Amino acid sequence: MMNYFERTQKAFEHYKATPDALILGIESSCDETAAAVLRGGREVFSMAVHTQIPIHRLYGGVVPEIASRSHTERITAVVEEALEKAGVGLPDIGAIAVTCAPGLIGALLVGVSFAKGLALAADKPLIGVNHIEGHIAANYLTYPDLEPPFMCLVASGGHSHIVLVKDYDEFELIGRTRDDAAGEAFDKVARALGLPYPGGPEVEKLAESGNARAYPLHTPFNSDLSVYDFSFSGIKTAVVNLMHNAQQKGDEPNRADIAASFQHSVVETLTMKSVQAALDRGMGTLALAGGVSANKALRERLQRECDKRGLRFCRPDMRFCTDNAAMIACQGHYRLLKDQRSDLDLNPSAESFLSR
Ligand code: KG4
Ligand code: ZN
Repeated sequence: MMNYFERTQKAFEHYKATPDALILGIESSCDETAAAVLRGGREVFSMAVHTQIPIHRLYGGVVPEIASRSHTERITAVVEEALEKAGVGLPDIGAIAVTCAPGLIGALLVGVSFAKGLALAADKPLIGVNHIEGHIAANYLTYPDLEPPFMCLVASGGHSHIVLVKDYDEFELIGRTRDDAAGEAFDKVARALGLPYPGGPEVEKLAESGNARAYPLHTPFNSDLSVYDFSFSGIKTAVVNLMHNAQQKGDEPNRADIAASFQHSVVETLTMKSVQAALDRGMGTLALAGGVSANKALRERLQRECDKRGLRFCRPDMRFCTDNAAMIACQGHYRLLKDQRSDLDLNPSAESFLSR
């Protein structure tokens, strides 16, 4: 009797040889349960997302146990919705891609277990996908002609990396945050300013009416372009202290000015370091990825700097910026084409594979 891996070998060969094959993506690493169907790896047929933001907002951040339970409750309906929207059934799907790391371990476990069950039941090849690689792949969905190599700035809630994308499955970590991720800093500053979770979009909105030069929040480490690493905990703490001191004195600080100054500092650091990395490594393209890529100030600043320095700038369409399954399906597609696939012993991991 053939085991799962042997049984699905033919389906795997067929997927690789069929340019318009369909792939189902599943994502459950944090607070979004998502599924998507893609054709040929880059054409998005459907997307379904159930966001848990309203649930976690009550607690001011993601509560891991609540996230896992919500994924368990929703995942079947979300996958069905993606298939239905695409107008296909499970038999039409050529392969299944699922986020397996990094993220909340209990949350990842829901998606990985579900995907393994589906792959086994329907005899479909399976591929475990790194979430950060997925964020990078969101750019392939936006630019049909984009191919490695290129430099990529990944700024999400859990990670901030400058990554050299050498090939679809080959990455070199060039720089990273020494402490808080960019999105995490946005979320913590939002909390200090009395804004709800997730803080990024809220800080961005408040910053629009503020003066970015009101509070100089720059640090020497972030201004040093000979180091690609950056650090956000210092400016985050500066904002928290500003609010604290003002409250103790009974002052009402200008929150919009603080939000604008903070955002300006983060945007300058991310822009200047990633552009420098792209130029130093001889890359013609700089891409942006991760939840913070939805930030308009960052998108505009990077576009301007790339124009000035002769670089092509790529950033995902807004619908691919925050967590979604289309980007996971896309990255899974390229891993499959590189002859990589997972067996049923695929396990989730809270840690990233991208390390130096
Ligand atoms: O990539 P993502 O959806 O989840 C992780 O993989 O972490 O990123 C979520 C993060 C949150 O920290 C959120 O505050 C931030 O992205 N974010 C933003 C914006 N939209 C989302 N940060 C700044 N400006 C935004 N417009
Ligand atoms: Zn993410």
